[in-house]
This record gives sequence, structure tokens and C-alpha cells, in this order.
Amino acid sequence: MSNSILVLENVSKSYRSVGNWLGEPHYVTAVDNISLTIQPGQIYGLVGESGSGKSTLARLILVLEKPDSGKIIINGQDINAISGKLLRALRSKVQMIFQDPTSALDPSQTVEKAITEPLLNFTNMKHSARTQQVLELLKQVQLPERLMNAYPHQLSGGEKQRVCIARALAIHPKLIILDEPTSALDKSTQINILNLLKNLQKQHGLTYLLISHDLAVLNYICTHIGVMKHGKIIEEGYRKQIITSCTNSYTNQLIKTARLLNNFSLNIEYDN
Ligand SMILES: Nc1ncnc2c1ncn2[C@@H]1O[C@H](COP(=O)(O)OP(=O)(O)OP(=O)(O)O)[C@@H](O)[C@H]1O
Ligand SMILES: [Mg+2]
Repeated sequence: MSNSILVLENVSKSYRSVGNWLGEPHYVTAVDNISLTIQPGQIYGLVGESGSGKSTLARLILVLEKPDSGKIIINGQDINAISGKLLRALRSKVQMIFQDPTSALDPSQTVEKAITEPLLNFTNMKHSARTQQVLELLKQVQLPERLMNAYPHQLSGGEKQRVCIARALAIHPKLIILDEPTSALDKSTQINILNLLKNLQKQHGLTYLLISHDLAVLNYICTHIGVMKHGKIIEEGYRKQIITSCTNSYTNQLIKTARLLNNFSLNIEYDN
């Protein structure tokens, strides 16, 4: 569809892996012929066990790697067919939030510097306007102004992740890819961050691709869920449909596991 924010058409990516004892090469198909469409305003959750290819898919969308075959189209543009200014402009529309906010932040940079960096790289804003924007972003992620001069080691995990979210929002992206954004946080911080992400999504009309191995996290926030196994999307649909009436035995197993871990308490009062 022309107004889709992200379209993947038969995308595959293999890696040459460690060979056997004879030294014969071995290939791992991390992403196996995936087709996927995400519309503006969706929160698309990708769930799957470790090694199913979720992060590889994220790296392909971020143009950190090239697919072996297939097309990735963001905002109508084939990302592997453009370069230079066009690619740079497109890149500014797609931001990433990682699992570990500690390694995502430069320990020698203050919060203000971290959030200012994308503004320096992608806008012509004057110093005073940038400071104003940093203050506004801190407000949006519910961090006090005084933390502007703090260094990462002076912040909690949740606060660091809020800084990463503020930095991602700074240049008004359309699509944000979140790879396990709350798995490094304790349960209550996890819920606070998920609520913040949900509010920001509504407020700014953002689109998320949210990657997690935890179905309860996706169940709490997503509009759509895709299930990945061995590099393929084996089932996808509306969140409610997947959670309440999926037919796939693997997905059922994931739901059972999430229930066993008692994580479905995350679902309370959420109805989308
Ligand atoms: N650079 C690489 N070189 C070789 N193999 C790789 C590389 N990156 C990923 N792989 C392999 O590709 C497969 C998919 O890895 P990927 O990191 O995408 O999985 P994942 O779903 O993100 O897992 P996790 O939930 O543990 O983060 C794995 O078998 C992995 O070993
Ligand atoms: Mg991963």
C-alpha cells in the first residue's frame, strides 16, 4: 500500500557461521523470505525466541546491513536503492531504541549533550533553540530539568532509557524500532516506560516496531503482533486476535509461557 510506513518484500539474510571440524562453511538463514507491512500509527510487536532473527530484521531496516534478496521500503522509498542525501534524510525518519541504555549512551556525555547530538547533526537550530528543545523533550519523557547536566552513571536504568527515548524523539522520526527496550529494567520501571511509550506514540502519531521475546510486553502495548520462528513470520494479526484466538501451536506455547510467568498482569485495563 502506498501510504505504508514500512514494507518488506521477500527479505532474506544469511550469515556465514562457524564451520564444522572439516572447516566446511555453514550458513545460518537469520531472516528467511519475510514480507511485512506496517501502517502509520501501528505498534507492531515482533515476538520470537532467541536467535529467531528479530534483531537482524531491525538491522536490515536501519540499513546497518543489506539483505541478500528482497526489498525494504520506508515511506515509499527502497532504502537499498538510495544513497547520499536521500538516504540520510530517510535515516532521520527512523530511530532506534536498544535494550541496554547504558551502552547506548556515551558515558562522557551529559544528558543535554546526548539529546542535542541529533539536533546538531540533522537540524540548523541555534544554540538557544536547541536548549529549549532539550528542555521540552525532558518534559515529554518526564525527566526533571536538573538532570540536564547529569552523566549516565548518575542515572537509574529507567532514567537512562528515558534519555534514549528523548534523543530518539528529537528529530521527529516517523518510525521507531525498539529492540527489547524494557528487558533490562525491573517490572515497575518496565510498566512506566511502556506507558510512556504508549502516550508518546499517541501524542506524536508515531509508528513503532517493538521487538521482544516477552509476549506480555507486546500484549500490553501493541496493536499488531507478528510471531517469528527460525527467520520466518509464522503468524501475524491484530493483538487481540493473536492472544485470544491464535491457531498456531508455537504461538499458543508462547502465550502459555507468558501466562505461567504471570506476566499477563500487564494486560489489566488495556483494551485496544
Ligand atoms: N553477524 C552475524 N554473524 C553470524 N551469524 C549471525 C550474525 N548475526 C546474527 N547471526 C545469527 O543469526 C540468527 C538470528 O540472530 P538475531 O540476533 O537476529 O536473533 P534474535 O531473534 O534477535 O535473538 P535474541 O532474542 O537472542 O536477541 C542467530 O542464529 C545468530 O547466531
Ligand atoms: Mg536480538
